[in-house]
Amino acid sequence: MELPLLDDMHVHLRQGAMLRHVVPLTRAGGVGRCVVMPNTDPPLTSVDSVRHYKRELASCSTDIDFLMTLYLCPALESMDMAAAREAGVVGIKCYPQGVTTNSDWGVADLQRYDALFAEMEREGIVLQLHGEVPRTPASDVCILNAEERFLPEVVRIHKSFPRLRVVLEHVTTAAAVACVKELGEKVGATITAHHLDLIVDDWAGRNHNYCKPVAKYPHDRDALREVVSSAHPRFFLGSDSAPHPRSAKEGACGCAGVFTAPLLLPYLADTFERIGMLDRLHDFGCVFGRTFYALPAPQGRVILEKTEQIVPDEYDGVVPYRAGERIGWRIV
Ligand code: NCD
Ligand code: ZN
Repeated sequence: MELPLLDDMHVHLRQGAMLRHVVPLTRAGGVGRCVVMPNTDPPLTSVDSVRHYKRELASCSTDIDFLMTLYLCPALESMDMAAAREAGVVGIKCYPQGVTTNSDWGVADLQRYDALFAEMEREGIVLQLHGEVPRTPASDVCILNAEERFLPEVVRIHKSFPRLRVVLEHVTTAAAVACVKELGEKVGATITAHHLDLIVDDWAGRNHNYCKPVAKYPHDRDALREVVSSAHPRFFLGSDSAPHPRSAKEGACGCAGVFTAPLLLPYLADTFERIGMLDRLHDFGCVFGRTFYALPAPQGRVILEKTEQIVPDEYDGVVPYRAGERIGWRIV
């Protein structure tokens, strides 16, 4: 099967030695262009830090087009958005405080940023939302309902800024799928490879399948599969590949994040074939994302062969998704 290189609209490429391992592996997984998340330590909060980070990424692979993001925080309120765009910034990522890895600098009050959202709407910068409300001592919020509780905020932002492009990242619930479908053409959603596979039982007690937002109920997974299978153009690939060292995943308090980058396209082909929607892979992985982001068609192509391979136990100290399991496809 021959496809264009994937557009992965949500990926974590990390820093330092981890970055140098992960970037070439991302290319090996079939990705030609990606939206790079800004939750580094410290996070990307200035145009200079984005330029520097992008140069570092490019020094590890000249074959990937890196689309950059900034981390929503007060420093962005006085930033020149046109200058940010020139530095390669396509979006601003909002992490509600405390909901996931490196979200401590995140947002406590989204309404505070309404003036910035208006500026982003004018400049064509995408707002990327990690859609989970934080837990508070008095509320009944938990990881199973945190995404659904966030949805009214998506509706509010869309109604207030109808021309602002908004992406609800890594959706995991039937409720989120329904909400995005109902909103206008400026609202899209990314879906990961692993959320098309997993439900609660698959991560409870299995740290390597634990990520935020967590995989939910079978009917939620079915809603993700159905919307992809229906070829809805506002639902597209964002792998949320999020590597952590084995020790950080397997400790008493394991980090959230599933590492799919090295075999992203084979995982997708395996899942899409298993659930009878292989013919949807091309548009989901190569067309709908770039159309939403208004990007040109990519140059490179990739050939997948229907040959079994066993997923390695580890890549440089990071355990990949489905380690040790058989998958039905490989990139040749
Ligand atoms: C991501 C990470 O490790 O950076 N983790 C995750 O579980 N998805 C952060 C994120 O996207 O939430
Ligand atoms: Zn992520």
